[in-house]
Amino acid sequence: MAAAADPVKIGFLVKQAEEPWFQDEWRFAEQAAKEKGFSLVKIGIPNGEKMIAAIDNLAAQKAQGFVICAPDVKLGIAVERATKRIGLKAMSVDDQLVDGNGKPIASIPHMGISAYEIGKQVGQGLLGEMKLRGWAASDVGALRLAFDQLPTARERTQGAVDALKAGGFPVTNIVDAAQSKTDTESAFNAANIAFTKNTHFKHWLVFGMNDEAVLGSIRAAEGRGFTSDKLIGIGIGGSKTAQNEFSKPKLTGFYGTVLISPKRHGYETAINMYQWIAENKPPAPITLTTGTLMTRLNQAEVRAQFGL
Ligand code: GLA
Repeated sequence: MAAAADPVKIGFLVKQAEEPWFQDEWRFAEQAAKEKGFSLVKIGIPNGEKMIAAIDNLAAQKAQGFVICAPDVKLGIAVERATKRIGLKAMSVDDQLVDGNGKPIASIPHMGISAYEIGKQVGQGLLGEMKLRGWAASDVGALRLAFDQLPTARERTQGAVDALKAGGFPVTNIVDAAQSKTDTESAFNAANIAFTKNTHFKHWLVFGMNDEAVLGSIRAAEGRGFTSDKLIGIGIGGSKTAQNEFSKPKLTGFYGTVLISPKRHGYETAINMYQWIAENKPPAPITLTTGTLMTRLNQAEVRAQFGL
């Protein structure tokens, strides 16, 4: 255990360091580190082995705690055990860690998005835009990019499905495409298979757990001639992935995204961990953040509202 007078050192471990969302989280965590004067150790942990090595490494460097988005939420018990063994404090961000029965681990505070509600915003946004375009629902397929082994991903897309159903969208037109991983390429591959099997729809709505899922699917759809006038995709995130699409001169099927806050997830979790270590003030057991639908048209406004 580090003594109270030791300089504060905090790890920030993320499952997909190459994803813009996680880079933004790191950037905001750095801001917290500068403000409070602690050092931040950023480590990418693409698998369980790297995760355990990173935690050991933090202990060797005399860090007192870390914020983590694990590569698999089922590694929860391993995280809890490692922290108890070496006396490090841990808090999860984005993906809540679970035990062997899939139950959240109470000793690890968590900050995540209100997944189901945000999913509903996606579904409502898709329906609203579909109605504006006057498409007959019977001609429209809705592609759900699924990564159901991750609870937050499942809840997000369930929210979207429920909103579609509540708005009268035909359930039988909802098509599932399972991603093997949560990146753009896996989404592209999964969507391609689904589009090949369902050639009878004139238009598509596309949704998934994040912007990468929707972007990959849109690229697959474009390969089949589904341009922005035949396709409405709404992601979740609002980082660089979405901003790049919005800044293209030509409209793409990437109609919108529900902007969530990398600032709250990066800055606030780092501050929470700092206060836990330096002031013995533990974080709230659970904090859920909200999102706002953002399109090309309102992006400046919405980003400003989020302090981005
Ligand atoms: C998960 C996803 C990320 C991002 C975060 C937001 O970790 O994999 O893409 O959406 O949730 O909390």
